[in-house]
Amino acid sequence: MATVRSAAQGILADDNTETREQIIEMLKKAYWMEIETVMSYITNSINPDGVRAQEIVESLQQDVQEELGHAQQFAQRIKELYGVVPGSLEFSAEQSYLQPPEEQTDIVHVIKGVIEAETGAIEHYTRVIEETEGIDPVTQDMVIAILHDEQGHRRLFEGFLREYEALGLA
Ligand SMILES: [Fe+2]
Repeated sequence: MATVRSAAQGILADDNTETREQIIEMLKKAYWMEIETVMSYITNSINPDGVRAQEIVESLQQDVQEELGHAQQFAQRIKELYGVVPGSLEFSAEQSYLQPPEEQTDIVHVIKGVIEAETGAIEHYTRVIEETEGIDPVTQDMVIAILHDEQGHRRLFEGFLREYEALGLA
């Protein structure tokens, strides 16, 4: 009779169940961060008004797809580690700083909110990379690539903010 052989070593081994569950919890948090970022970037790529908003709006429109791709990668990795991707009722929002501003021409509010969201992602993903060191190189590799994307986003929006500061608008 054929039996399913469980992995003898590595992150999928029975002996590593506890470690695997810790990693899954971190991946769930990352998944929800990406999902909330998708929501926030949709709203902030549509709400802003004015000539100055166009660059920001177009950038966020592209980022929506990229962040959605990140969410899908985190979800896939949760499954690969024998976890279950959580349902929507487990979601709780945290991005107070990316709520619509009072005035839809207040693009500095959006830029600062994006920087804060990216900073939060960078902090969490850096922790995941540290926690998976020598334990789960596949998750670590995936998160390194995602971290690279988030650093790129933050740098882009820091550049936008500098321009607004130079114009005396921030
Ligand atoms: Fe992301």
